[in-house]
Amino acid sequence: MGSLDQFIKLMNVALSWEYAAMIQYIQHASMLTGPEYVAVIDEELQHAQEEFNHAVRLSDKIQHLGGIPTVVVAEVKTSLDNAEMLRQDLQAEIDALNRYRKLVEMAEAMHLYDVGQMLREIALVEEDHVINLEKALGILRAR
Ligand SMILES: [Fe+2]
Ligand SMILES: [Fe+2]
Repeated sequence: MGSLDQFIKLMNVALSWEYAAMIQYIQHASMLTGPEYVAVIDEELQHAQEEFNHAVRLSDKIQHLGGIPTVVVAEVKTSLDNAEMLRQDLQAEIDALNRYRKLVEMAEAMHLYDVGQMLREIALVEEDHVINLEKALGILRAR
């Protein structure tokens, strides 16, 4: 399997996790409850929209690179506990950031600098999501 094939495969893995993240945020936004979570709920719905945008960008890029975008949804986590939901979201964001850093490296090693640029843009948004969730959880640093 060539490196482009491997790259497309990993782009599809990232796409599956974007679908999952979008669903997870929609569900968590509905399930979070309590006055201290009002602002967090808005933030989670904003994240859901951004994960949707990431999914669209990845899907189009996979097709453009000659692949077939997956329709598989990765694992969605949920809980009946507010803080646990936020911890699940934070872990998913840390994983996403690490996934995109690896994909940027791979893209640029293949001189696909345009694809690398797109992935850097997505990574920056994921980093913002990490920061938002760390603040919502009252932690300074989870990594
Ligand atoms: Fe995302
Ligand atoms: Fe995110």
